[in-house]
Amino acid sequence: MDHFLYRNGALHAEDVPLAEIAAAVGTPFYCYSTATLTRHFRLFDEALDGMDHLVCYAMKAASNLAILRVLADLGAGMDVVSGGEYARARAAGVPGDRIVFSGVGKTRDEMHMALTGGIRQFNVESEPELQALSEVALSLGVVAPITVRVNPDVDAKTHAKIATGKSENKFGIPIARARAVYAHAARLPGIKVVGIDVHIGSQLTDLAPFRAAYRKVAELTAQLRADGHTITRLDLGGGLGIPYARDNSAPPLPLEYGAMIREELGHLGCEIEIEPGRLIAGNAGLMVSQVIYVKSGEDRDFLILDGAMNDLIRPAMYDAWHDIVPVIEPAPGAEQHVYDVVGPVCESGDTFARGRALPPLAQGDLVAFRSAGAYGAVMSSEYNTRPLIPEVLVKGDQFAVIRRRPTFDEMLNRDTIPEWL
Ligand code: LLP
Repeated sequence: MDHFLYRNGALHAEDVPLAEIAAAVGTPFYCYSTATLTRHFRLFDEALDGMDHLVCYAMKAASNLAILRVLADLGAGMDVVSGGEYARARAAGVPGDRIVFSGVGKTRDEMHMALTGGIRQFNVESEPELQALSEVALSLGVVAPITVRVNPDVDAKTHAKIATGKSENKFGIPIARARAVYAHAARLPGIKVVGIDVHIGSQLTDLAPFRAAYRKVAELTAQLRADGHTITRLDLGGGLGIPYARDNSAPPLPLEYGAMIREELGHLGCEIEIEPGRLIAGNAGLMVSQVIYVKSGEDRDFLILDGAMNDLIRPAMYDAWHDIVPVIEPAPGAEQHVYDVVGPVCESGDTFARGRALPPLAQGDLVAFRSAGAYGAVMSSEYNTRPLIPEVLVKGDQFAVIRRRPTFDEMLNRDTIPEWL
């Protein structure tokens, strides 16, 4: 459920008509709902009720400071994967002891930053990383708390570009080698083992792969404890999917996911961390765009929007489906017209949808891309020197621009022409 509904014939974000925001900030823009972010965070928090737990929002999904502040105020932890994300989490007011640091390629500078700024744990993904982290920690006279991310060789049954839990993927340490790696970690003076980490992929629509992975983590917990390690924390990653298409079967709910975690891991007495990103932010955001032209091709009509692949790359990159809805509510039973929905960027890949049935639309009409809150704004670029589009946050009847559109001057002024040219 989200808070983007038609009211009085117009699509609203909570109590604000989207057309009003479009008039104020121009199009295209991203719009997020505070109530939806809050609801989704709470679904996870409540799903783990009764277990010692922390929901660490995977901020790679949507990392605007205002979004982070909404979640931080609800008690969220953060999963960060770069120095930049770490800086964002801290700037949004998240204490270091609620930040976990993931990623296959953490640099020594990033380790230094997190060790001095405060960190809950590093999720370490390789032996060379363990070595580097131990050295950086020692140089600072501290000890780095870690989990090792294990690769359980489980097929997440999702898009190949976002599956991470198979042995051919670059992520984690093969679970078969985990005991040796933990033994090595225990000998390193700058390292303190606190638990195990696993993340098998994103947009999972079935609990079975999670269950298979978590069962392996439970077995490993017993083995590592028998080996003398103190395992008090299990980071179970993110990945629970959301419905993108109206005809999709509904993915499992956070409550069902939480119940499965309790079944598989509850007996271990560990603190549970999860790292959901998409389920919290995805359906809490829309991208609103305007029709520039309707163009008749040889055998099809093109709806040319002012939004493009640089603003929302998921359709071009993963063939992802996003529901596209008109901002003015179509009359019930209104006729449908079939369009290829495209942006102005100079590539055929700049196509949001092919053969999409929509109510007839005309120049100037507004449309909204649903489920665009996660991996939308964060993956945007300035390709074709198109400015990054604004982000707007709504709460009740209020809205605010939380990232404004840069001017052309601001964009151009980041370049320099060397004086020797
Ligand atoms: N934890 C780790 C270690 C991750 O790598 C990810 C996502 C998450 C948590 C959050 O997963 P989520 O709950 O959002 O599924 N750009 C792609 C998705 C990439 C996901 C990368 N890792 C897309 O637009 O579908």
